[in-house]
Amino acid sequence: MEEIKKIGTAELKYDGKTYPLEVMEGTEAERGIDIRALRKDSRLIAFDPGYGNTGSCRSAITFVDGENGILRYRGYAIEDLATNCTFIEVAYLLVHGALPTQNQLSKFSRLLNRHSLIHEDMRNFFRTYPEHAHPMAILSAMVVSLSSFYPELDASSDEELDLMVGRLLSKIRTLAALSYKQSVGEPHVYPTSKLTYVENFLNMMFYTPVANYEIDPVQVRALNKLLILHADHEQNCSTSAVRLVGSSGANLYAAIAAGICALWGPLHGGANQAVIEMLEYIHKEGEGVEKMVERAKDKNDPFRLMGFGHRVYKTYDPRARIAKNACEEVLNKLGIKDPLLDIAVELEEKALNDSYFKDRNLYPNVDYYTGITLRAMGIPMNMFTVIFTIGRLPGWIAHWLELRDDPDNRIGRPRQIYSGPNHRDYVPIEQRG
Ligand code: SDX
Repeated sequence: MEEIKKIGTAELKYDGKTYPLEVMEGTEAERGIDIRALRKDSRLIAFDPGYGNTGSCRSAITFVDGENGILRYRGYAIEDLATNCTFIEVAYLLVHGALPTQNQLSKFSRLLNRHSLIHEDMRNFFRTYPEHAHPMAILSAMVVSLSSFYPELDASSDEELDLMVGRLLSKIRTLAALSYKQSVGEPHVYPTSKLTYVENFLNMMFYTPVANYEIDPVQVRALNKLLILHADHEQNCSTSAVRLVGSSGANLYAAIAAGICALWGPLHGGANQAVIEMLEYIHKEGEGVEKMVERAKDKNDPFRLMGFGHRVYKTYDPRARIAKNACEEVLNKLGIKDPLLDIAVELEEKALNDSYFKDRNLYPNVDYYTGITLRAMGIPMNMFTVIFTIGRLPGWIAHWLELRDDPDNRIGRPRQIYSGPNHRDYVPIEQRG
């Protein structure tokens, strides 16, 4: 990780005193004030609910320029990676910091193939889950349970680290597909070394002994692209959860399970499911696009345009553009005319021409079109955030590794502004009114 430059000093003037604060600059000219000594010097803390103005770390993994709609993984533009790479190449890039040579990629693929099975005893867990358990609940439980079945978690050597990371990247697919098979009461399907990473996942999801499942290269390409789009996004909610849990020294599987739980929320990774629920509602209830746009603007109405808006992007999310193209490709190839896509395009057009959305820089984000593609591929709605999880996993792993090796790393422990009662004397229960 390149050194962060100190480029000057800001001054905080308070209560007759002046506190110098160093200004630092990253490799993409992002600037921040270093407040690590603020409370010690001034007794003041910074107050920033949601951390919209607060940098939690230095990171060399992903760069997002929200004003200009730029997203790069390790310096490579998302458009180049989505067009030219497989998901496993990008996973390697995020975890190791460079695109793999052919030899490195072959070795990485062999490692993932070798560790795609789960311990046979883990299958029993699936059989004891309630029938309609959400796959995200199952996935987070299974991932943290990996630490019991594969307890080699110290990972001091490169080989041990590659093994721990490879196991997780590979088994997440098997666990995800098993949670789906269990939910539909179909027999579990084993991974095979004859298929690529995404082919294996689709085969484990849709193959059954009585229906010959044909792997469609267009869908494989589209899913590779969607997983690449989801692979990392700097300090988003779930990645920050992984870092916070990892900062206490918790093992990789525990930190990733926390990330899965954070991603599940409808404001975050659960939005792709919420988008389809919104589009289906509009389609079924026929409330009309205009009405929904008005409802999304109404502060008294809890309805929000799901898949719209972003904490960082104040222009079109570059991933949404790529996801929209992938969606059109898959629907055309499958010959599907999905009314939800028409509604989504109309809704986008209305919102982008509405001052409420324009004034607040609200544009489609990565979740807006992905659900329509996954639906067309036969992936059920409650699996959409699971797909997001498979995509985001290499990013989470890269951040956990970066945090582990960061000399600035301290256990995450934010401060607060206390707003509760001042000291009160204790009153025995018989004297309480
Ligand atoms: C992801 O961080 C990441 O990088 C996340 C992610 C990743 O790759 O990890 O990109 C993935 O989580 C994408 C976001 C998926 N979520 C949704 O699509 C849910 C719908 N979007 C909103 O809930 C919202 O836009 C958030 C949660 C995404 C962002 O919330 P912020 O940054 O806290 O923004 P805000 O709530 O302060 O909104 C600013 C204004 C408010 O209005 P005013 O108070 O200024 O009048 O914009 C309004 C909001 O009410 N607003 C919306 C809106 N999003 C924001 N109004 C209607 N519909 C929306 N979707």
